[in-house]
Amino acid sequence: MVGKAERYGSVPSKSSPLRRQASASHATKTHGIDIVLGAQWGDEGKGKLVDLLSQEYDVCARVAGGSNAGHTIVVDGVKYKFHLLPSGVLNPGACCVIGNGVVVHLPSFLNELDGLEATGIEYSGRVFLSDRAHLVFDFHQEVDGQQEQHLGRHKIGTTKKGIGPAYASKIQRNGLRVGDLQDFAYFEHRFRALADHHMRSYPGLKIDVDSQLEFYRSVADKINSMTIDTIDFTNKKFYEGKKILVEGANATMLDIDFGTYPFVTSSNPSVGSVLTGLGVSPRKLRGIYGTVKAYCTRVGEGPFPTELPLEEGSPGSHLAQVGAEYGTTTGRARRCGWLDIVQMKYSALINGFTSINLTKVDVLTGLTEVKIGKGYKYKGKYLSTMPANLTILSDVEVEYESLPGWTEDISSCKTFEELPENCQKYILRVQELIGVPIRWIGVGPNRTDVIDRGEGWDLVTLEEEED
Ligand code: GDP
Ligand code: IMO
Ligand code: MG
Repeated sequence: MVGKAERYGSVPSKSSPLRRQASASHATKTHGIDIVLGAQWGDEGKGKLVDLLSQEYDVCARVAGGSNAGHTIVVDGVKYKFHLLPSGVLNPGACCVIGNGVVVHLPSFLNELDGLEATGIEYSGRVFLSDRAHLVFDFHQEVDGQQEQHLGRHKIGTTKKGIGPAYASKIQRNGLRVGDLQDFAYFEHRFRALADHHMRSYPGLKIDVDSQLEFYRSVADKINSMTIDTIDFTNKKFYEGKKILVEGANATMLDIDFGTYPFVTSSNPSVGSVLTGLGVSPRKLRGIYGTVKAYCTRVGEGPFPTELPLEEGSPGSHLAQVGAEYGTTTGRARRCGWLDIVQMKYSALINGFTSINLTKVDVLTGLTEVKIGKGYKYKGKYLSTMPANLTILSDVEVEYESLPGWTEDISSCKTFEELPENCQKYILRVQELIGVPIRWIGVGPNRTDVIDRGEGWDLVTLEEEED
């Protein structure tokens, strides 16, 4: 067993920027917006934590991305898959907000609502769309597919959900917003102009404008009944003392600014999107929970320094098989690799995580050794940061630390102390290397398969323990 003194791993030094940031501005707040973010390349298990936490929140919000996200939640053996709706919708007491930073494909949104109805989940009066959120049209999705096809072997590997083209329309200022449906004549005028622009820009693209307009006219009343000013709504809820949780979609390494550009999505899935995608001030933020898979996965193209080959019997194939690493949105096989500390430190620096949700630790069970990527070397020299240059990133030599594995089934462990010693050591080493406390430890896919080391498991607590 690991002793109490050792349990916290080594605490970041008092001068550490991560520590000062966490204790000064976030963890000491009693009321604030909490955020679950993806710290790697997506599919870390954000939805599961949001589902778990949302039982205690009044409002759950999405702030960026669109139906490119895929969040799987397992409750009592039943699987729920969400793309646009926040996973918090499973809590009947919570309101769900789709913020202004999200791009919404209404047919997909309506399908998801139908799916809820089919499983007996009542949503009326508690799902709200921002009037400022932009719309993704079918032709955006078609263009997404065409662009990928034209790129051939240089493709990004998008989800083909029209995310890039829809954000492009938003930035070009010819996009349409959810609230435009409240004035159908205006909607029609803007839609015709946007469709025309696309047909001119992409010869061969055919848009049946009239039938599209007919569809939007038919759903306008339903959508309008859910459309609100989410900025006013969310801020009012905050001042009423309600608890607000943000469900991040996509992930930091897919961020258009911070990710492995151009192999990224077209929004900012890191912490900044909470401000720009929900319309709240930074002073309202509190817990910033980085969701980190105990190894790494990536769908789509782009560099992945700790990637493993997937051949039968290899650690890579163990991670893929045991972790069931297939995309929730596209069904594509996810690429797998070891946890990457250089990448994680970069992600922690950008987002200012106050604690970490380390997921899928159970998937490592059965490996004789577990590796952690600790440093990058390029042409024989250590790199101190995550390089922007993809030629360099694709060519880095990763330095690994190897830890002994464990064979004991951990899925029924309810406390840190119940975990096998080698598993505890692995978790503590990860915590020490990243420099952010690990509060949640995922031991299985079910809602209840998680060890929660408890509220207050933050840097302030560590500081108090140390004093
Ligand atoms: P998200 O996009 O970040 O919400 O993650 P996804 O839902 O796309 O992928 C995570 C997958 O891992 C889902 O199938 C979850 O049910 C599953 N999962 C989440 N946490 C754990 C865990 O701790 N252990 C195991 N075995 N599976 C988990
Ligand atoms: P969640 O929320 C994993 C990836 C795509 C592709 C790139 C660009 O489930 O973690 P896009 O369709 O956004 O233009 O594709 O980004 N991608 C994700 N990968 N999980 C996600 O979301 C993703 N959202 C986008 O695979 O490589
Ligand atoms: Mg996912």
